[in-house]
This record gives sequence, C-alpha cells and structure tokens, in this order.
Amino acid sequence: MSIQLSNQEPFAKGGNRLCFIHPDDPGLVIKVRRPDRPLEKKRKAKKFPKNLRPLSSLDDNLEEFKVMRSLDKRIGESVYQVVSRCHGFVETDLGKGLVSELVRDGNQKISHTLKQYIWDNDFTEECQQAVTEFAKTWTSLCVPSRDLLLHNIVVQRELDGSITRLLVIDGLGSPNLVPDSFYSRPARKNRAEKKIQKLHEKIEQLLAQRGAEEFPGYHGLLIHDGDASLNSTDERSEN
Ligand SMILES: Nc1ncnc2c1ncn2[C@@H]1O[C@H](COP(=O)(O)OP(=O)(O)O)[C@@H](O)[C@H]1O
Ligand SMILES: [Mg+2]
Repeated sequence: MSIQLSNQEPFAKGGNRLCFIHPDDPGLVIKVRRPDRPLEKKRKAKKFPKNLRPLSSLDDNLEEFKVMRSLDKRIGESVYQVVSRCHGFVETDLGKGLVSELVRDGNQKISHTLKQYIWDNDFTEECQQAVTEFAKTWTSLCVPSRDLLLHNIVVQRELDGSITRLLVIDGLGSPNLVPDSFYSRPARKNRAEKKIQKLHEKIEQLLAQRGAEEFPGYHGLLIHDGDASLNSTDERSEN
C-alpha cells in the first residue's frame, strides 16, 4: 500500500528532494524527488556528454541507495559512525521514496545541519573538535563522496546541547564514472583527505558570511523541526 505524504509538510527540502517524517515511524525520513525538478529537466541542463546518460543515473534516490549498499558491503557497520543508515524504498503518493534514519537530537527535535549550527553558534571549540573527530573517521574509512557540503552534514546533539557526532546525510559516492573500488587504498585515502580540506574551506567561507542578516540560501535550513505537535495536518494527531 502506498504511504500518504502529500497531507503533511516536508521538514526540509534540498536541491533535488523533499524530506518527510515517515508517518509510521518518527525515527525515519522518506525522501522523494521534488515534483518541480523532473529528471528530464535535470538532464537537459547537463553538458555533453553527461546529457547522454540514462535518466536513472540522475536519480539521486537510486544513486544514494546503490552507494549505501556498496558502502555497507565494503566498509560495514563502522561507516554508520559518520553516515546515516539507509533502509531502501517505499511507494508513496509522491512517487518512490527512499527511507533513511532520521537524525534527531536528545530533545527529539530534528538535528540541524552543520551550516545552521555554525551560523547560529559560530565555529565553537566543541564544533571544531567534532569536525576533527569526524575527519579522522572519514579519512581512515576512506569514504567516497562528492564535495562534503555544510548542508549535507547534520550535527546531532545531546539533551544538554552538547554535540554527539556529525553525520553525512547526502552527497555520497563517486562524482565520476569510475567506481571507487577501482582505486588503491592510498588513492582513496588521499581523495577523502581532499574532501575534508574542502570542507574546512567551506566552513571558512560561511564564517566570512556570518555577519550578514539573512541565512545564505534555503539549503540546510529546516522547514519544521519534527516536533509532533507541529504536524497539525497529520490526521492521527487530531484524534
Ligand atoms: N537523515 C536525515 N536526518 C536529519 N535531517 C535530514 C536527513 N536527511 C536530510 N535531512 C535534511 O533535509 C535536507 C535536504 O535533504 P537532502 O538529502 O540533502 O536532499 P537533496 O538530495 O535534495 O539535497 C538536508 O539539508 C537536511 O537539513
Ligand atoms: Mg543535499
């Protein structure tokens, strides 16, 4: 049976997907493709030769699922120290949805992105330590990824606000057509280290913008924080 999502508001949206709380499990997120970003349109915007690729190769949900399956096989349980778990596909009234672990803080609110955390709190010593810890694990596991963007990493916090860990929720996999397993371990480690270097550059860029009044862009900002009392369109909460 298809899961109904169209009666609730997504808690966040990225460039490609809308994120909803799973109606049957508040610990899971269902990601569906944005209806205003059809794959045909996405392919048309690509340059040659990428515009010749099959539409399925541009489907972020499908790509993420494949990458997560291969990471699980290659790295195993330890990858979940730095990456959220993926649970496969469900049918929804907004199309095929990819189910993943929804990262929440100790107070049960949905965790903020690293972008929002730094914007709100500055790059605190505690956050610097969390990034260092994350970087150590990331490079030792040689996790393949596209650029690590501040809105694709979430900061999970304890009930008292202290940081538990950083988790990547999007942007995994290799940006090119050569599979990651083709490379030697030193080469994979080197690539992971480069991504961490770039992450630091992105943090510096955000810090330079921090004096401005408005949060830069909508990426990485929650639409709502997943507090059950806010889901007024959820029929069950009216009973
Ligand atoms: N597993 C998750 N836990 C908590 N927040 C998430 C999770 N997945 C996505 N989000 C939030 O939703 C936003 C968009 O999700 P994302 O997967 O990055 O979509 P897109 O592929 O369109 O970029 C993220 O920036 C983040 O704020
Ligand atoms: Mg994203």
